[in-house]
Amino acid sequence: MRTQVVIIGSGPAGLLLGQLLHKSGIDTIILEQKPKDYVLGRIRAGVLEQGTVALIEEAGAGVRLRHEGLIHDGTEIEFGGIRHRIDFKGLTGKSVIIYGQTEVTRDLMDVREACGAPTVYEALDVGIHDIESESPSVRWSADGKKFAIDCDYVVGCDGFHGVSRQTIPATRLQTYERAYPFGWLGILVEKPPVSEELIYVNHERGFALCSMRSRTRSRYYLQCPIEEHAEDWTDDRFWEELTRRLDPQAVSKLQTGPSIEKSLAPLRSFVAEPMRFGRLFLAGDAAHIVPPTGAKGLNLAASDVGILSRALIERYKTNSDAGLDSYSQRALARIWKAERFSWQMTQLLHLVPDASGFDRKLQVAGLEYLFKSTAAQTALAENYVGLPY
Ligand code: FAD
Ligand code: PHB
Repeated sequence: MRTQVVIIGSGPAGLLLGQLLHKSGIDTIILEQKPKDYVLGRIRAGVLEQGTVALIEEAGAGVRLRHEGLIHDGTEIEFGGIRHRIDFKGLTGKSVIIYGQTEVTRDLMDVREACGAPTVYEALDVGIHDIESESPSVRWSADGKKFAIDCDYVVGCDGFHGVSRQTIPATRLQTYERAYPFGWLGILVEKPPVSEELIYVNHERGFALCSMRSRTRSRYYLQCPIEEHAEDWTDDRFWEELTRRLDPQAVSKLQTGPSIEKSLAPLRSFVAEPMRFGRLFLAGDAAHIVPPTGAKGLNLAASDVGILSRALIERYKTNSDAGLDSYSQRALARIWKAERFSWQMTQLLHLVPDASGFDRKLQVAGLEYLFKSTAAQTALAENYVGLPY
């Protein structure tokens, strides 16, 4: 078997890359270790930058997103029980779109299936070979049989725990990491959201976030110690704690109900450099992780893919390696700015367990400055809606 580009992982990065390449006549195969329904069942991000939406549309998967996505022109940040609105549209001219990662994934899978491009689900023991040569290959097993495919390039879109980054010798990779001593417990519920826009809450009991997937489906998060388990949180316990952290107006609007999904996500910052080894390229969570506070994870996966797809298309159309050679540097320039923003939002909004009195005072000063300064609000809005590619 032979193809032009082997993509490992069918998360948003892999699927989006597959469609952008397909539109330019480049053949791909996607190898995904999990079953399709498992991939579709993962509840993750919900906020899309306009640049991400543009790429999804370019990939031909934007029809439902255009109809069902909710346009948000701002967000609210709450401190000391008082909400302050950050006017994205007024400050930057841009908005964000609320549309779940699950839906993005489903739409991309549908267009891929419609065009007949191959995806192998439950591809196990994926191995990347001869990646420093001109003719790499990828091997895997499925249904008890072994398979191999030759290709020009391999793109690792297989997330933080994937095989691609691990294929790169440790001596050829520089990694940067920060783990946070808390996680986010998330709950999905079939009830209307408490407010038109998202509410990020800095509360003395810990951070909370009121988000949504649609006008009838809400997503809430609570900061909790990293040692906790989602199973130990009954729905009642979750609602009780959320109620404690919200302002009276939000509490009066809160509609509780049985959770459709509940999960605990650790918070981590991580970057691996460079995002290339021979003919292997990394994109999305395979190369970097941000804490979700800035809503950047999925958007960074999309911007990596935007840059890489153009480089691969240039390579096949004009035989030029220039775009591929500069991919890592260009992508990392944007990634580090999103790392900084996500770290800063995390510092600003969470209860940091080992924070000194000095740290806490700085946090309060940062919030008060934000609420009073148009310049600070513009900086937050500019980062939140997404920096240019
Ligand atoms: P992924 O979505 O992780 O996709 C990688 C794919 O590769 C998966 O389907 C996986 O099964 C597959 N794979 C892995 N290993 C192999 C292998 N060896 N062989 C073949 N396939 C493999 N971001 C936000 O902005 N907001 C959020 O609320 C938010 N919540 C999150 C909650 C969790 C638990 C996690 C893990 C992430 C969350 N993120 C969130 C981040 C966001 O979802 C990711 O940034 C986004 O999914 C990145 O897309 P990706 O395609 O790079 O990776
Ligand atoms: C979400 O809706 O899942 C969400 C929204 C904003 C964030 C993180 C997650 O910053």
